[in-house]
Amino acid sequence: MAAPELVARAAALRQEIERHNTAYYVLDAPTIPDAEYDRLFRELQALEAEYPELATPDSPTRRVGGRPLEGFAPVRHAVPMLSIRTETDTTAAGARAFDVRVRKELGLTDADPPVEYAAELKFDGLAINLRYEHGVLVQAATRGDGETGEDVTQNVRTVHSVPLRLACESPPAVLEVRGEIYMRRDDFERYNAKQRADGKATLVNPRNGAAGSIRQLDPRLAAQRPLSFFAYGLGEVQGWAAQPATHSATLDALAAMGVPVCGERIVGNGADALVAFHDDIEARRDRLPFDIDGVVYKVNRLDQQRQLGFLTREPRWAVAHKFPAQEEMTRVEAIEVQVGRTGALTPVARLHPVFVGGVTVTNATLHNQDEIDRKDVRVGDTVIVRRAGDVIPEVVAVVPDRRPQPEPPRFNILASYPVCPECGSHVVRLDGEAAVRCTGGLYCPAQRKQALLHFASRRAMDIEGLGDKLVDQLVDRGLVKTPADIYALDAATLAGLDRMAEKSAANLVAAIKASKDTSLARFIFALGIRNVGETTAKDLARHFGSLDALIAASEDDLLAVRDVGPVVAQSIRQFFAEPHNLEVVARLRTAGVRWPEATGMQQSAGILAGKTLVLTGTLPTLTRDAAKEMIEAAGGKVAGSVSKKTDYVVAGADAGSKLAKAQELGVAVIDEAGLRALLGATMG
Ligand code: IVH
Repeated sequence: MAAPELVARAAALRQEIERHNTAYYVLDAPTIPDAEYDRLFRELQALEAEYPELATPDSPTRRVGGRPLEGFAPVRHAVPMLSIRTETDTTAAGARAFDVRVRKELGLTDADPPVEYAAELKFDGLAINLRYEHGVLVQAATRGDGETGEDVTQNVRTVHSVPLRLACESPPAVLEVRGEIYMRRDDFERYNAKQRADGKATLVNPRNGAAGSIRQLDPRLAAQRPLSFFAYGLGEVQGWAAQPATHSATLDALAAMGVPVCGERIVGNGADALVAFHDDIEARRDRLPFDIDGVVYKVNRLDQQRQLGFLTREPRWAVAHKFPAQEEMTRVEAIEVQVGRTGALTPVARLHPVFVGGVTVTNATLHNQDEIDRKDVRVGDTVIVRRAGDVIPEVVAVVPDRRPQPEPPRFNILASYPVCPECGSHVVRLDGEAAVRCTGGLYCPAQRKQALLHFASRRAMDIEGLGDKLVDQLVDRGLVKTPADIYALDAATLAGLDRMAEKSAANLVAAIKASKDTSLARFIFALGIRNVGETTAKDLARHFGSLDALIAASEDDLLAVRDVGPVVAQSIRQFFAEPHNLEVVARLRTAGVRWPEATGMQQSAGILAGKTLVLTGTLPTLTRDAAKEMIEAAGGKVAGSVSKKTDYVVAGADAGSKLAKAQELGVAVIDEAGLRALLGATMG
């Protein structure tokens, strides 16, 4: 037997833990750190393990899930759980028709004031009846056929926002709270992301997630699913002294007892209020944190509800006003690919047209090969398509028993598209990458704008003035297809473009011309080879010394370069294996793009290998970056200050203290011409 102080301690712990629980899950305002919560929780668990009589039905330790069940016991509902009539006209007329019917049934005339309504959301989950006796949750049941449901108490206890005890001084003898168990969209996404990462099965949608979890026989599994609850009504009530007289006040009272009630609800007069609520919620539907499939209107006064009564199995005082469905079934007529700006081939299902989420959908994304494999989508399959708001329509799942016979083959992007549908370049999937990609980066129309912008960017060919507005125009008017076409542009052509004055056209032509003199590293970077950034481009230039040596390099040769791993080596090989790219490179060279190159392999280490240079002052033609690159390409190092270890100081106009220091230490001083001579001595 537990000593009285332990009994008191357990009670205090239960109360405190549930208080924090409500703050966290219902009010969304945590009161203590997680670690502190865990400490209290473990203390209570330990007490209950030692003295099982302390483990009351409302103990928060019950939320973690008990032993697996054999099945669910039937529960006969004290008050039947009815459904509501659904208004299928999704326009405002649906709301007005309800008001007209209600007024008629209540015997009201045009002279009578408008009816007071409560309007709320129609949650998309699983209906649940929570039975509280003297404030303690004793049973949770599904709706079942409305008369008899299933006892899912163990699972529902794992839902943190369901109070195990009502926060109420003198609770009613019996209070049945009815509402919906649902899954928030963010919880759904997070759960699925984790499942995917663990290679486990994902949930199809939040609704199935909620319903499936509650009907899960192993409560420990249910406990891992992130579920939530909203109350929307009552079942049996006994001994509720201050029971409110309206629906809205009932929900307010439940909220005051710690029961989660959704804040998105109004009380309003007449059909206009209903229409306004419907339109407001429909406009904000996609920004709500959970799925709804419509709104629900209820006559607010309970005396009027009683007067209206029921028509067979549906109350006359409530109606569900639906929104257009966000999921529908349709057939996959074909699977095609779309080539994105980066060359990724995204598989797209071409669908038999279907009205979903308010629009007619004919395409849905399949994301990538892994997603196709996971969902096993095949041409001819019947699929569930989802479109929520502005989100791109998506294939959620295949309906397996509607697959045509004999079975169509599995879909494989690489097998169906060995070459890019946009440009005919070959298509690859790099190790460890989800995407299949077109390798014709310099040539492919889909990648054109991106490739040109990158080519012209400051750290690549540095063509000042060639920004995205201009690239858009040049590409859209068909003036430029590949970077090589840039060098054929003349001032007259450019001056004919929007927002392009004669002066800026002339400047751009000059910038294009100036960009022809570049370094090998910049040129390699400008090609936009996947996984080849600025640093890798420099390493490649230094290592191979010439473009031809790089083009000829095998994967093994490439792996010998510092910091080049298998993925980078593969990317480079695949890029130069594509004839379209080589063609563009050749045209660039013909156009006059050039750089200092090492001629033979032995120079590939660089004429300046092991040498340290210092730059000072302004050089006549080279920017500091350009000079630095040329030196680095030849294997040299550029240091910031002069010392005895400095081999050369390259001095330009207005050179200051560094020049003086060099003279003092007897370090060789050269000018730009001297630097070019040094580099040119052994470079072509
Ligand atoms: S009231 C007697 N209110 O919709 C009226 N139901 O057919 C009882 N639902 O399965 C229902 N949100 O689970 C009501 N705000 C809401 C609701 C709601 C969702 C579900 C309910 C039931 C179905 C009604």
